[in-house]
Amino acid sequence: MSGQRSITGSTSQATPKTGKMPRILSVANQKGGVGKTTTAVNLSTALAAVGKKVLLVDLDPQGNASTGFGIRRASLHASTYDVLFGEADILDVAQETKVPRLSVAPSSVHLSGAEIELVTEERREFRLRDALRRPMPYDYVIIDCPPSLNLLTLNALVCTDSVVVPLQCEFFALEGLSQLTKTIERVRKAYNPDLSIHGVLLTMFDRRNNLSRMVAGDVRDYFGDVVYDTVIPRNVRVSEAPSHGLPAIVYDMNCPGAKAYIHLAREILKREKVMLAAETPRDAA
Ligand SMILES: Nc1ncnc2c1ncn2[C@@H]1O[C@H](COP(=O)(O)OP(=O)(O)OP(=O)(O)O)[C@@H](O)[C@H]1O
Ligand SMILES: [Mg+2]
Repeated sequence: MSGQRSITGSTSQATPKTGKMPRILSVANQKGGVGKTTTAVNLSTALAAVGKKVLLVDLDPQGNASTGFGIRRASLHASTYDVLFGEADILDVAQETKVPRLSVAPSSVHLSGAEIELVTEERREFRLRDALRRPMPYDYVIIDCPPSLNLLTLNALVCTDSVVVPLQCEFFALEGLSQLTKTIERVRKAYNPDLSIHGVLLTMFDRRNNLSRMVAGDVRDYFGDVVYDTVIPRNVRVSEAPSHGLPAIVYDMNCPGAKAYIHLAREILKREKVMLAAETPRDAA
């Protein structure tokens, strides 16, 4: 179906729309190569490992989250592209993975044209929200965003409860971050009043490297408690895993990177409890 938008725009009739409202977290930073996909893949896997039902939504035309699970994108019959245009149901696009309780909604290359195609669509900022904000058989939906503040990322932010922002521990880490926080603020005001920053995650930390330590210190000074205690170390096993079609946590669960992502999932769930307790229940309103 990808790339062939039907006139009817019909979606599957067979899928039951049962379940509860999932929590939706986006992994976003318009800076490229900071660890968004690695975080989305391994956080999703770690949340599934601790018993949560998780759907990872690949919203990046590059499709690294999909190929990271060994999904062959050339043979997809439907993708997140079709979901955005109302031509496929997210539950039909979702594919089970080798990881129990974890499904992935893959992206296709057609998504690279979606930005332009969306411009003329009605409710162009709400397409993903219309598709995802409903009862589903998942506890968590994790969205892997592209490295841009384009309409795709906007769609993710409009349907998201909270944003996880990975920052690579290198010079210029903070560059462009004010743009991201301003965008989040604008989305909160215009479309999604409940949107929050869940946390800032330091990635690819190299403790032997002075610069890495300095950047981590600066980020903590600047953001304070918003920065997760968990730091993801630079670890070659983490970067090898996608070429085997596996999350690092499955590829080598004892490597430092995998352990850090499991730690992150626990920290995120703890923070979730605090955040959810402070929130007025959305569905009760
Ligand atoms: N902790 C880590 N240790 C070593 N390599 C890592 C680590 N995290 C990510 N990488 C590597 O860094 C590169 C960029 O990571 P990733 O693809 O997750 O970033 P991204 O922000 O999603 O990139 P893009 O902006 O292109 O979507 C990849 O080659 C990945 O394997
Ligand atoms: Mg990516």
